[in-house]
Amino acid sequence: MGSPYRERRAEAAERRYAALGVPRDDQRARHRAVAANWDCFGAPAALFCYLDRRMGPAQWADAGMYLQTVMVLLRAEGLHSCTQMAWSVYRRTVAEVVSPPEGLILFCGMSIGHEDAAVPYARSERAPLAETVTFLGG
Ligand SMILES: Cc1cc2nc3c(=O)[nH]c(=O)nc-3n(C[C@H](O)[C@H](O)[C@H](O)COP(=O)(O)O)c2cc1C
Repeated sequence: MGSPYRERRAEAAERRYAALGVPRDDQRARHRAVAANWDCFGAPAALFCYLDRRMGPAQWADAGMYLQTVMVLLRAEGLHSCTQMAWSVYRRTVAEVVSPPEGLILFCGMSIGHEDAAVPYARSERAPLAETVTFLGG
């Protein structure tokens, strides 16, 4: 991943570790924070979204939009969610549990539950609009 995305991702990770009180050089604590992914951050439910392997980038974008809609509908029900690419690390183990039909590929996981407001957690900063959007015309 090239610039500026690499730097933005690193900055987001630093903010998150800082919010969790994890020191920069404490590798074990950092690993524990990452490993929380595979405990669904304590959430009671997980969703695993699979795609037909024959699908290309356009359909992967469709799946992203679909999941966004799921997340908005969850909010309408008072629930919170966290999309997680981290599940791809353990895609084989996930497949052992959910037994997906042949020909599917794990696209994304999602933890679902209620936000624990007591957990010190920084929401991701967004890059400034001027850096990410170009307005054309009057
Ligand atoms: C496609 C996608 C994959 C993500 N994967 C992970 C992940 O594996 N682990 C994680 O902690 N956050 C992951 N995130 C970030 C969280 O879902 C969430 O966006 C982040 O915690 C910031 O929360 P906020 O959007 O409310 O600011 C991912 C986000 C997206 C859009």
